[in-house]
Amino acid sequence: MYYPEELIEEIRMKNDIVDVVSGYVKLQKKGSSYFGLCPFHNEKSPSFSVSGSKQMYYCFGCGAGGNVFTFVMNYENYTFGEAVKLLASRAGVALPEMEYSAEMKRRENHRARLLEVNKEAAKYFYYQLRAKQGEAGYRYLTGRQLTEETMKKFGLGFAGKTGSDLSRYMKQKGYEDKLLQEAGLAGYDERSGMRDKFWNRVMFPIQDINHRVIGFGGRVMGEGKPKYLNSPETPVFDKSRNLYGLNFARTARAGNIILCEGYMDVIAMHQAGFTQAVASLGTAFTSGQAGLLKRYTDKVLLAYDSDGAGVTAALRAIGILREAGLTGKVIDMRPCKDPDEFIKKFGKEAYQERIDNAENSFFFEIRMLERDYDLNDPESKTGFYKEIARRLCGFEIEVERENYLEAVAEKYHIGFENLRRLVNTYAARTGLVKPAERPKSGLAKKDPPEESGRRVQRMLLTWLADEPGAYKKAAAFIDASDFTDGLYRRVAEKLFADLEAGIYNPAGIISMFEEEEEQREAAALFNTKVEAIETKQERERAFHDILYAVKKNSYEYYSGKLGSDVQALNQVIAGKKALEELGKTHISLD
Ligand code: CTP
Ligand code: MN
Repeated sequence: MYYPEELIEEIRMKNDIVDVVSGYVKLQKKGSSYFGLCPFHNEKSPSFSVSGSKQMYYCFGCGAGGNVFTFVMNYENYTFGEAVKLLASRAGVALPEMEYSAEMKRRENHRARLLEVNKEAAKYFYYQLRAKQGEAGYRYLTGRQLTEETMKKFGLGFAGKTGSDLSRYMKQKGYEDKLLQEAGLAGYDERSGMRDKFWNRVMFPIQDINHRVIGFGGRVMGEGKPKYLNSPETPVFDKSRNLYGLNFARTARAGNIILCEGYMDVIAMHQAGFTQAVASLGTAFTSGQAGLLKRYTDKVLLAYDSDGAGVTAALRAIGILREAGLTGKVIDMRPCKDPDEFIKKFGKEAYQERIDNAENSFFFEIRMLERDYDLNDPESKTGFYKEIARRLCGFEIEVERENYLEAVAEKYHIGFENLRRLVNTYAARTGLVKPAERPKSGLAKKDPPEESGRRVQRMLLTWLADEPGAYKKAAAFIDASDFTDGLYRRVAEKLFADLEAGIYNPAGIISMFEEEEEQREAAALFNTKVEAIETKQERERAFHDILYAVKKNSYEYYSGKLGSDVQALNQVIAGKKALEELGKTHISLD
């Protein structure tokens, strides 16, 4: 059932979120918000917040968030339509037999078509693998010791040799060429007409958490380059917000999730009984994926390759996990390259042992760091210790810092007091031990570079949602194009357009997104924690710093696109000017 946006908004406004949530969760007022125990994950102290002014909820523990519709959908396991019905009747709003906005309907329809064509293609590949023409594929997979049951579970398939099998089959089924191209399954060129993207490869359908096929990876059988081909991103395939295998891993209940590098690793691990294994999708692990994992676990074990590239990727992933508030540990794969090889060689019991003995991510980082230093050379050794001290300062909680300090000192035979002195020196120099002098905007947190850019964008959106009056000040320097993540930009566009028109309605923005994952992320944008700031002067300083950081991130983003994007030059010129301007402007907030 499709309803017009105005009606959806009316129903939302007539259902105060604090009232609705109170019917399910015991809430207590704290400051301007209400807090309670989160109904979406297990917890002992309340981190679930509901804001009456924003008409949103957000859990600081698990990241669940959204508006009153999302809440009912998640709590009752309802579809959007069902939630609308419940809330309409609760507020006494009559529901006409009506339609969605034309644009929403078109987008939803297009997504449905893409999912359908993907599903049809997956079925076709699956069938090919078991047919005469798929023998080579079947042999390859059984040669890698996959059982029929495993192949079935993951829906593995085969793309035939001719390079136009799928296109022809789909045409005959009545799918337009254009749709196949939009799904990234085929391309068109003048000379040869429609050409399949995947041919002569074993096929791995990629599913979202609801088991819908959203894209594919295809592997050559044996050597050959590229080893994998992957579907491009499409409206249904967002590589930064999905994980291979999560549709199964989410219900594994192993107490952890194992993040590995490759599709084959995931499959081998599931076959060996480790059904909590997932992998990213041919791209580096992202903060969006960390957020996704956080819904199901607070403990992530990294099972990355033991080679140089694997270690680099693991170090990067550790930073992202830490930023998301997840505990990371690293599974030692030596002497093997990856989990697939390890399990084949040493068996699953041995692997379980490696899981049980996974290394704390901080120790892993220090151990990897050690390789850059020569501990026989006094100067280099001092450098190593100083770097350890610097990293220890990253633990903001004192007890935690002390515990790590003690453990590292013992492990590397550094005198405890000596190391502590180094830590104190470093901390004093950077202001860590004197919290009052630290920048209050929270900008000083150490993030991987892209993540810090995204974080300041979230902080700015949260600030403007909490304090719409500040929008005018920001708008002198910033517009929606300064938001460098697609989803962030869509939110900013709507929020800014609303504020320009004198409308304040952040909860309405959540309803623009169809996917639950996007709704959560949009809600998170309005609920980023900003450290408590007391004085007006500090607040103005923090606001200025955030604006500056968002602009700088945008400037750097567009600078990187010079030459490939015609818009970029204008953005860079305007960005540079705005940065100079901001640099000498004091922003007052009244
Ligand atoms: N990958 C990719 N394109 C490539 C190589 C790798 O997209 N040319 C991605 C795939 O998602 C792959 C992951 O990176 O699963 C890890 O790569 P690799 O370790 O080389 O592949 P495995 O999945 O381990 O496959 P195999 O065991 O068959 O080598
Ligand atoms: Mn591998």
